[in-house]
Formats: sequence, C-alpha cells, structure tokens
Amino acid sequence: SKKKENAQVISQERIAQGIYSMWIKTEAAAEAKPGQFISMYTNDGSKLLPRPISICEIDKENGSLRVVYRVTGENTGTEEFSRLNAGDTIPVIGPLGNGFPTEKAAGKRVFLMGGGIGVPPILELAKQMECEKKQIVVGYRDAETFLREEFEQNGEVYISTEDGSVGTKGNVMDAIRENTLEADIIYACGPTPMLRAIKSYAEENGIECYISLEERMACGIGACLACVCQSKEKDHHSNVHNKRICKDGPVFLSTEVEI
Ligand code: FES
Repeated sequence: SKKKENAQVISQERIAQGIYSMWIKTEAAAEAKPGQFISMYTNDGSKLLPRPISICEIDKENGSLRVVYRVTGENTGTEEFSRLNAGDTIPVIGPLGNGFPTEKAAGKRVFLMGGGIGVPPILELAKQMECEKKQIVVGYRDAETFLREEFEQNGEVYISTEDGSVGTKGNVMDAIRENTLEADIIYACGPTPMLRAIKSYAEENGIECYISLEERMACGIGACLACVCQSKEKDHHSNVHNKRICKDGPVFLSTEVEI
C-alpha cells in the first residue's frame, strides 16, 4: 500500500461559493491518472480518517496536482484544507483508485459528463482524451460555472444549471436532449441520482458507460466501509460480491454495479 507523504501547497484560491482550488507539489503526480483521487489528512489529530479528494489536473513536469473540492461545513476537514496557504504542508496518500479507462474512447464520439462536485475530475479526463468527438456536458446549480473556461479549451462544452441561469435549465440529461447530442461511449462523475439517470440512458441505448462513484466515499483508504456497493458479479455459489468503491473503483462499468 501507498505511503503517507507531506505534500506542499503551491497555491490555493476560492473559485466559487464554497469551492476551492489547490495546487500541491506531490510525488503522487508522477503516476496519477484522470479519475483517480488522493486522500488528504487534516493536521488536527482528532480527525483521524483522511478525506478523499478527486484529482482535477495533473502536471507531471512540475510534479504537481490540482484538486478542486467543496467545503462541506464548519469545522470539517475540508474547511481546514481551505485555510491552507502556499508553503504549508498537508499529509496525503495517492494516487488512489483505478481511474477512467481513457483508451476505450479512441475513434469514438464521447460524452464527458460531470455534475456538481463531480465536475473537477472531468477536466483532466478531457485534457487527456483522444477521441473522434469530445462533448463535455457539465451540470451546475447556478451561474457559478467553475472550470468552464478550462473545459472550453478542451472540447465542445454544454452546460446545464438547475436555476436555468446558464445553458440548459435542468440537469446534464436535459442538456443532451436539448442539444440532440449522441455518443458511443460515456464517462461520468457526479451525485448518485445523476449517475443513475446516465446509467439507465446508457443501458437503454446500448452505450458503453463508465461511472465514477467517488461522491460516495468517506475515508478513501478502505478503512470505514461506508462506500460498499452491490456489484452484479456473482461467484460460483451465486453469492453477490460487494465492492468497496475506494478500493475496487471509484470508476465502474455502469452495468457492473447497482446504484
Ligand atoms: Fe472508507 Fe471506502 S471510503 S472504506
């Protein structure tokens, strides 16, 4: 298993209400892939379990990673992360998880779909993806469409907002319908209701679909079992095998898991 390392904060900024972007210098950058995450520890000894945070961008040349995360409340680990400044250190483990199988997209029309705090991992995925048609479909609550400019540099961008202030009013599925978009393969990350809708759309239309269940993780290191989900795999006694999202995922072929 991976070792804990003290990463150094390069920069940090608030990019939307409650959403922070931080670049850190870390050995984890060397082997990181899109869809993987790192687990970040607080320096406060009372919170022993780390927080899994998805990787938003990878800069191998400078040995650094960008994480974009939501502060989940007062006195939380994520709030502590948001107060770090350039030069501070933060204990991290990573990269963790399997990541998205980018190679499956070759020659295909692709949907890269992200919703809410599932938007950030879609950026590195979009940057690395080589495919026939790259359609980035991202959903937000309101006009604070963080990372939008970066997406626009990396593909065709379609936006949905819950309040209708930007793009399609509704969710990412509404944006696909409104723009009559089509794909041969889907990669998605976001809250469970969004992934459930994408999974059934993909299955109804026979589209290969990879979903990241990272929002359901708690510790990210296999210690809390909060992330167990039912898989469709059965052993030779027909027993269903449960999967730990943080260890076996967070990315799964949509037909492999019940959500
Ligand atoms: Fe804690 Fe998977 S998130 S065991």
